[in-house]
Amino acid sequence: MNKNIVLIGFMGSGKSMIARQLGQRLKVEVVATDRLVEAKEGQAIDEIFKSKGEAYFRNLERDIIKDVSLRRGIVIDCGGGVVCVKENLQNLKTNGIVFYLQATPEVIYQRIKHESHRPLLKVSDPLGHIKELYQQRLPLYNQADYVIDANDASIEGPVVEIMRHLG
Ligand code: S3P
Repeated sequence: MNKNIVLIGFMGSGKSMIARQLGQRLKVEVVATDRLVEAKEGQAIDEIFKSKGEAYFRNLERDIIKDVSLRRGIVIDCGGGVVCVKENLQNLKTNGIVFYLQATPEVIYQRIKHESHRPLLKVSDPLGHIKELYQQRLPLYNQADYVIDANDASIEGPVVEIMRHLG
């Protein structure tokens, strides 16, 4: 496989689990942009948000995306907000096929409401905030090469569908 498989979508859409499965089945390396950012900065994502702010995080993420987009034949599990910086999707598409894992705000909320490490959910109305971000990002996510339904709790469907698109 020469192209990268790029997974984008909101937090809680199943990107990491689906990326891991694809990596195992296709026997290719999986990289997560969030983990690369953390390794580069020596700090967890929520710490970076807290101490340096979202704009600082987005700059780090943009640089990581630029580097990782140069690679070939890997699965790239992207942070949910990669689409917020326009050049990211362009870079990811250079060597990659981009899959948007689509899940509704309600499904996302049910999946992540008990998690405490998500900086963007530390607000008084998390579901409302998810809906707002979702609306803002939807046109950007839809610039993916393929939209994959990821509302079901099982990851088997999305994994099989992505592999079918890869041929
Ligand atoms: C973010 C999603 C997170 C992480 C950061 C910001 C977002 O990644 O990059 O907390 O803006 O949606 P996951 O989608 O992997 O949780």
